[in-house]
Amino acid sequence: MQIVILNDATEVAAYGADIFTAQLNKNANSILGLATGSTPVALYQALIERNKAGEMSFKGVTSFNLDEYLGLDGSHLQSYRHFMNSQLFDHIDIDNANTFVPPGDAKNPISACHEYEEKIAQKGGIDIQLLGIGRNGHIGFNEPSSGLTSRTRVKTLTKATIDDNARFFGADEYQPHLSITMGIGTILDAKKVVLLATGDNKADAIQAMIEGPLTAACPASALQMHRDAVIVIDTAAASKLK
Ligand code: F6R
Repeated sequence: MQIVILNDATEVAAYGADIFTAQLNKNANSILGLATGSTPVALYQALIERNKAGEMSFKGVTSFNLDEYLGLDGSHLQSYRHFMNSQLFDHIDIDNANTFVPPGDAKNPISACHEYEEKIAQKGGIDIQLLGIGRNGHIGFNEPSSGLTSRTRVKTLTKATIDDNARFFGADEYQPHLSITMGIGTILDAKKVVLLATGDNKADAIQAMIEGPLTAACPASALQMHRDAVIVIDTAAASKLK
C-alpha cells in the first residue's frame, strides 16, 4: 500500500484527479471502476472541469460502478445510476452505452451478478478502481464479514451503513436494505486501486485498514494484499495512524 497524506479534502480530490487524468492520457480506452458516495464528488467535479478544458477525453472509456441498491431502478433519485449520471456522466464526453452500474431492477439479481462479472472480464478487466471506505471498513457494499475472495453478489447492508446513508433518503422514502456489489475478489482483480477518505469520522476505519490485521472484520484490510493500492487521505482521516 502506498499511503498519501494531504492537508484537506480539496487536495485529496486533486491528487485523485491527477491519477485518473494520467491513466486516461496513458490509455484512452481505459476501463475504470467507479464509486458513489460523498467522497468522490469533488474528484468527479475536477474530472468534469479537466474534460471540458480538453485535458483528457472519456470517449474511449468504459466504466463499471462498484454497487447499486437492489430494488431501485436507474431513474430513482437515490439510485447509484442516477448519482453517476448527474455527478459525472452527463457532464463528460463518455458514451453512456459504455457505462455500467449493477442493475438494481434486475428480475433475476443472482444471474445479473454473474453477468456483471462476465462483462468486466469481457472488457479485459478494470485498469483502475476508485474506492471510498465506510466507517465500518466496508468497500463497495462489502460489509464486515464479507469473504475476502468474494465476487459480485447480492449483499445485505448493515444497520451502520443504512444509518449512514439515511441522509440521502427522505423521511418517508423507501430505503433499500439490499444491494448488488462487486466482491472483494473483484476489487482486488483491478490492476490499480485508489481509495480516497477524508474527515475524522473515517479515522478508525483507516487505522484498521492500514495497521490492523488482514481480516474480514475490516473488508478494506484486503487492500493490504494488492500490489498497487494507493490510499489518499487527509490529515483528519490519518489522525489515528500510529
Ligand atoms: C459507494 C460505495 C461505498 C462508499 C462508502 C463511503 O459506491 O461503494 O463503499 O464508498 O460508503 O461513502 P462516503 O464517501 O459517502 O463516505
